Amino acid sequence: MIYSSLVIKFTILYIISYSYAQQCEQTSNAARFNCHPENNPTEATCETRKCCWRPPIPQTNATVPYCYFPTDFPTYEIISNETTDFGQRIRIQKLQTTYMPHDILNLTVDLIYETQERFRIRIYDTIYRRYEVPLQVPVVEKRATDTDYEITFSAKPFAILVTRKSTGVVLFDSSIAPLIFADQYMKLSTRLSSPLVYGLGEHRQPLLINVSAEWKRLTFYSRDFPPVENINLYGVHPFHINLERTPDNQTHVHGQFFLNSNAMDIDLQPLPAITYTTIGGIIDLYIFTGPTVENVIEQYWAVIGKPAMPPFWSLGFHLSRFGYSTFENLWETIKRMHDAEFPYDVQWTDIDVMSSSLDFTYDRERFQGLPGLVRGLQSEGKHYVNRLDPSISSTQPSGSYPPYDDGINREIFVTKYNSTDPLVGEGWAGRTVFADFTHPNAVEWWTRMATAFYESIPFDGLWIDMNEPSNFVDGSHDGCTANALDNPPYVPHVLGNNLSSKSLCPSSQHYLSFHYNLHSMFGYFESQVTNTALKTIRKKRPFVLSRSTFAGSGQFAAHWTGDNRASFQDMYYSIPAILSFNMFGITHVGADICGFGLDTTEELCTRWMQLGAFYPFMRNHNDLGQKDQDPASFSWEAQQIMKQALLMRYSFIPFWYTLHYEASMNSKTIIQPLFFEYLNDKNTYNIDQQFLIGRALLISPNLVSQTNTVDVYIPQDVWYEFSSGVEIETVGQFITLNAPISKINVHVRGGFIIPMQTPGANLILGRGNPFSLLVAPSQFGNASGNLFWDDGDSIDSIGTNTYNYFEFTLTTSNTLTIDPLSTNYKDSPMRLDLIKVLGVSKPVTQVTVNGKVYPNYTYSIFDQILIIHGLDMNILVESSQIIKWTTST
Ligand SMILES: *[C@@H]1O[C@H](CO)[C@@H](O)[C@H](O)[C@H]1NC(C)=O
Ligand SMILES: *[C@@H]1O[C@H](CO)[C@@H](O)[C@H](O)[C@H]1NC(C)=O
Ligand SMILES: *[C@@H]1O[C@H](CO)[C@@H](O)[C@H](O)[C@H]1NC(C)=O
Ligand SMILES: *[C@@H]1O[C@H](CO)[C@@H](O)[C@H](O)[C@H]1NC(C)=O
Ligand SMILES: *[C@@H]1O[C@H](CO)[C@@H](O)[C@H](O)[C@H]1NC(C)=O
Ligand SMILES: *[C@@H]1O[C@H](CO)[C@@H](O)[C@H](O)[C@H]1NC(C)=O
Ligand SMILES: *[C@@H]1O[C@H](CO)[C@@H](O)[C@H](O)[C@H]1NC(C)=O
Ligand SMILES: *[C@@H]1O[C@H](CO)[C@@H](O)[C@H](O)[C@H]1NC(C)=O
Ligand SMILES: *[C@@H]1O[C@H](CO)[C@@H](O)[C@H](O)[C@H]1NC(C)=O
Repeated sequence: MIYSSLVIKFTILYIISYSYAQQCEQTSNAARFNCHPENNPTEATCETRKCCWRPPIPQTNATVPYCYFPTDFPTYEIISNETTDFGQRIRIQKLQTTYMPHDILNLTVDLIYETQERFRIRIYDTIYRRYEVPLQVPVVEKRATDTDYEITFSAKPFAILVTRKSTGVVLFDSSIAPLIFADQYMKLSTRLSSPLVYGLGEHRQPLLINVSAEWKRLTFYSRDFPPVENINLYGVHPFHINLERTPDNQTHVHGQFFLNSNAMDIDLQPLPAITYTTIGGIIDLYIFTGPTVENVIEQYWAVIGKPAMPPFWSLGFHLSRFGYSTFENLWETIKRMHDAEFPYDVQWTDIDVMSSSLDFTYDRERFQGLPGLVRGLQSEGKHYVNRLDPSISSTQPSGSYPPYDDGINREIFVTKYNSTDPLVGEGWAGRTVFADFTHPNAVEWWTRMATAFYESIPFDGLWIDMNEPSNFVDGSHDGCTANALDNPPYVPHVLGNNLSSKSLCPSSQHYLSFHYNLHSMFGYFESQVTNTALKTIRKKRPFVLSRSTFAGSGQFAAHWTGDNRASFQDMYYSIPAILSFNMFGITHVGADICGFGLDTTEELCTRWMQLGAFYPFMRNHNDLGQKDQDPASFSWEAQQIMKQALLMRYSFIPFWYTLHYEASMNSKTIIQPLFFEYLNDKNTYNIDQQFLIGRALLISPNLVSQTNTVDVYIPQDVWYEFSSGVEIETVGQFITLNAPISKINVHVRGGFIIPMQTPGANLILGRGNPFSLLVAPSQFGNASGNLFWDDGDSIDSIGTNTYNYFEFTLTTSNTLTIDPLSTNYKDSPMRLDLIKVLGVSKPVTQVTVNGKVYPNYTYSIFDQILIIHGLDMNILVESSQIIKWTTST
């Protein structure tokens, strides 16, 4: 007995050590998949996992893992597969457990052919139902046919391979590393089609994630922290776009969305490959085959929901700060903005107007005049937004503070583990409990509280902050538990190395599930509930601004990039952030202009106001204790430049508003990077200091202090300088442009017609002002554009068909047609006064309007610009109108 067991032992040892050596041979460092992502791996801890431990060969400074999976690491194999209505259902099994506790050995894999361009892979426990993300995603029961993708799978080890049928490019290949599926640790790796990736927010990073030579780890768990690189931030968007090269050297893209709300790491490596490591839920992965970026975005938003149409007024300039401190100060600021005649639409206040930072209050001593002030602003067409935090004071005298008392009665607060007692943490208002916005009673409670406040101060929008959720103590005032939710076997690389860090104990309970699962969706649910409350209270189109977001938040809220600082670096990072949030379906997005933390400078604030004039959401906001940075607080010279920027923004509002319509109806991003439009031009892949508004305006800000020029890339196309209207000659190259402090470079792309309007003092006062058209012909001499217009405030003007919609077309025969496709909104006049046509190379000899000779035009041979003025044309008519010009030959 002893002898034979020894022999067996020896044999096993021999086999293990023999195969160990074999299975650790790697073709390259890039093909190593990290078996020990926790900090400080050692050879000993690596070996207990039965993984390989070797220094990288060759040696490198890149963060190549020393501890990696052997190729024969135990994983799943197929036990059965069946064809179903939606595609395929595969049962897989693993025969032995590996290093993480509670390995789940029997799994089901559903391959769902959802549409021709979208498929979904779901891997879940065959026996027990697990938490799944409570998003309302489409349920597809019938397999799509004629798909652009082909899915095959291998049995042992189990792996999925997806190729694009039209090109043969591999879109997904999970054979490169073992699948791990334990109760609190799931890991899936797949090959990327190229090392060039975009998305994966919310992180402070350049737009392009290029893992040609680098290893990159991004962590996802919503967190209140001023944006810095390499940490998890306020929101969670595990979505990316990956470039592919076709055999004939074209570029295609596909997208991937990992539908999971637990804390997670996403690792990228130069193989190239991506690894998802999450600590809960299931593996639920969407792939969108594009093949253009526009297609991928549309396919993604079809799953998560399209962005909301914002109220018209919210496109104007918003002014805010933390620390007006007194009514007089607030009033002084508004007065100097008014006296200096800045266009401006929305005044905000922060927690300092509250009484002891309590939600739904204002300080009746320091801000006695606030209700009157707000009504006064509203009577001039301006709007007012105030702030709410989800943490509710629990220490007010009983019966004195309805948000708490009523909330307790309705049981809508997050509770401690295995208890009905609310978890107590700490917020601006001192000791607080936290609203559970997943609770079915939350809408009614929140609406009632907001209604009561609305009766004293009729706010127009709500700003929901601190909803990561942020907690000034870790976990709770009573600590957390010793259970596995508060102490999971693996903690993704979150800031603070603990899921409780400056937030709630993961073991605390929401109505829908544990905080462990729902943490990163806190802001999502709060946005949804706040949006509903606003509709009930104002009966108008809601405006919600949320700091924390999750995939799909754009249906309910706008977003700003959080507590940035007054630095040129922060100004730069606002661009990739805003571009990324557009991909994430939160198109109404901006950054705190001039910087939130630190004192700004006149130079920085001037540059930033110019850039911010091209953010979809334009708010200047700063922190308690920082010096004033409203435009009217600067020198006369700086004010003129800022005013110029604001007037430029306001003149483009019809274009912006139409872009929002395109986003909410047709899934188009509002601002976008150059590569979206010039996918085959490699020079555009890494450009994130310039961006496009819609498809037609190229913005190239100067982001460097003390410089008067800016280096830019002008893609191969027809471009006109906006300020002069003159076509630029050097395209398809990097060039240097003049960019003195007075100037932001804006270029208009040939092929587009941009609707504009004469600015008013605010958007409401300017609504009836004359429109104009900026016509920028393409290389062929044609162009097109459109205009959406409604009352700007009703909840569903599209559904109720009470809007106007126009199409503008310029043909190569110098004929501009205005087609009114819908004219059901007639409450406000729409008069076209001026048409500016760029790139008219030959002298104009005659202009006709609807067949009649029209004398009011000028033509400049030097600038090649035709201006048709004094039109006073009513465009709210049923029939098309035609403007033609003839030129000398
Ligand atoms: C690693 O970095 C150091 C210092 O930056 C450099 O001297 C060394 O050559 C690098 N080694 C490799 C293998 O790249
Ligand atoms: C897994 O499935 C196999 C085959 O269906 C079954 O024999 C086995 O008992 C299951 N294992 C567990 C842990 O449920
Ligand atoms: C799927 O099932 C069919 C029969 O049901 C079998 O022929 C085929 O080999 C299976 N495929 C894999 C990859 O296991
Ligand atoms: C990606 O990185 C590689 C290696 O660092 C570099 O050669 C390449 O130019 C980069 N690609 C882009 C589009 O920037
Ligand atoms: C694609 O590009 C590669 C390298 O730039 C070149 O060798 C190849 O001929 C090109 N193929 C086609 C079909 O243009
Ligand atoms: C939940 O609380 C009850 C009552 O305090 C206690 O008996 C039970 O053991 C607790 N359950 C868990 C899983 O902690
Ligand atoms: C995380 O922090 C909480 C609260 O301070 C504590 O109860 C818990 O044990 C910590 N967990 C880990 C893994 O350190
Ligand atoms: C302009 O004409 C070209 C060539 O006929 C066509 O490809 C393009 O789509 C047209 N552009 C617009 C804006 O109508
Ligand atoms: C030409 O413009 C002037 C004012 O700019 C206006 O009074 C006149 O009616 C216009 N002429 C025509 C034919 O519209």
